[in-house]
Amino acid sequence: LFTVLWTLTADVWDPSHCRTCVVVGNSGQLKGSSHRLLIEIHDWMLRMNRAKITGFELDVGMRTTYHLMYPESAVTLRPNVHLVLIPFKPLWTCITSALHFGVVGHWPVPTGLRQPQYHVLILSPAFLKYIHDNWTQHHGRRYPSTGFTALLFALHTCQQVSVFGFGADSEGNWHHYREKNCWSGAFCRTRVHDADVEFSLTKRLAHKGRIVFYK
Ligand code: C5P
Repeated sequence: LFTVLWTLTADVWDPSHCRTCVVVGNSGQLKGSSHRLLIEIHDWMLRMNRAKITGFELDVGMRTTYHLMYPESAVTLRPNVHLVLIPFKPLWTCITSALHFGVVGHWPVPTGLRQPQYHVLILSPAFLKYIHDNWTQHHGRRYPSTGFTALLFALHTCQQVSVFGFGADSEGNWHHYREKNCWSGAFCRTRVHDADVEFSLTKRLAHKGRIVFYK
């Protein structure tokens, strides 16, 4: 596991330098937050899935170092953003569907991938199993969320980790900042992940001083 992560980050690893990292989740609580400056001071910026920057720069910042996604949540990335693919499902199923039908799940395969090959990483399934066994402990219907996976990825590769955009908004809604409808609650509703368990683990990490959690 650690060999995988180590190899993954070795190109930019400098032990004399304390690397700071921000994990930007997609929670609706980011809308109107004006967190851009707080987010942008970090060395690494992790985003995920259908995170949108255009139109939300003031709230979510502009840079991205790593963008984590699974085949169904794939979007076209800007050049120089490292793509981290999470193999939640057998990849050959996705590849067959992408090649024959041009879709993965309900989503069209994004075109215009500009990432050079050394910017594309595939997260080891062993890392997902480690999170599922040791952190979320098999809560949730299937597997840990992309956000919680990104948080663990950051904890294992950075010295200081800040977290934005996790959790419900002040009204208790679990929507995304890019959505107009704040009652959609898509992240929580599917129960694929256990949002409550992940959120309480995140709060505990903050309480123990392992991460800085911004609400
Ligand atoms: O829903 P999506 O997977 O795009 O969101 C990315 C991550 O942001 C989630 O995995 C979750 O960790 C976090 N999120 C959240 N609260 C929300 C929406 C997303 O904590 N309301």
